[in-house]
Amino acid sequence: MVDIIGISSGRKNKVVESVVRQVLEGTGKSFELVSLAGKLIRPCEGCNGCAHTNRCVLKDDFEPILKKVQEAQGLVFGAPVYWEHMNSKALAFWERLCFSGRHNSLFPMAGKPAAVVGVDGNGDGKYVFKDMKTYFEDAKINLVGEIAAQGEYPCFSCGYGNYCPVGGLIEYFPLGTEITAERIPSIVNQHPEKCGLEPEKRDITQAARDLGLVLSKVIDIYASKKNPSVE
Ligand SMILES: Cc1cc2nc3c(=O)[nH]c(=O)nc-3n(C[C@H](O)[C@H](O)[C@H](O)COP(=O)(O)O)c2cc1C
Repeated sequence: MVDIIGISSGRKNKVVESVVRQVLEGTGKSFELVSLAGKLIRPCEGCNGCAHTNRCVLKDDFEPILKKVQEAQGLVFGAPVYWEHMNSKALAFWERLCFSGRHNSLFPMAGKPAAVVGVDGNGDGKYVFKDMKTYFEDAKINLVGEIAAQGEYPCFSCGYGNYCPVGGLIEYFPLGTEITAERIPSIVNQHPEKCGLEPEKRDITQAARDLGLVLSKVIDIYASKKNPSVE
């Protein structure tokens, strides 16, 4: 069993996953990073199948991941913004986690320290933070900190990106701008001049690792309070 679970509901090896990994590495603890990319997480049906057991009855990839989250001492959850909310896979995951856990006041994750990663075209992550606040409050999870990063619209690599008048690229560059590697946002290639990131927030890698360290300290304090014999 690892100390911390990281979950990314973004694409494989893209910005959400990269930032979640940096936060995990910054903790200095053992971790596993689970990507929801390619996994089936159905939305909550509100069927009450979880009412007596506090376990969701839908059969897909949710349950094994939930088990890892419940067993870990801490959590890092990262999601991209799709249409001004976190993406629907993340929403589905938290709908089910919160509803199945709350019957008869079980709240199995109450007090668990956790950090949130929010990624979008603008680099402010605010829609992810807003959505996650609701779920963390419901599950009584302890929000230790948040980090935002600018991500790469899929429009950058669809093949029409630089001449598509409704694509993500033209939010940041004039129509026809050549798509070069240095223009594509990544964890090491944020575009503060385009997305309004403040100077002190441009080093996403360092900021993510700093957040990981804070999360690690809070986990230690939480563990020592739960078990006073632990230093
Ligand atoms: C369907 C869809 C909707 C999106 N909606 C928004 C949006 O409303 N605001 C925004 O800033 N970015 C939006 N984006 C951009 C994503 O947040 C961005 O691609 C992010 O980098 C994805 O994370 P990933 O690269 O780690 O998968 C959208 C992307 C997609 C595919």
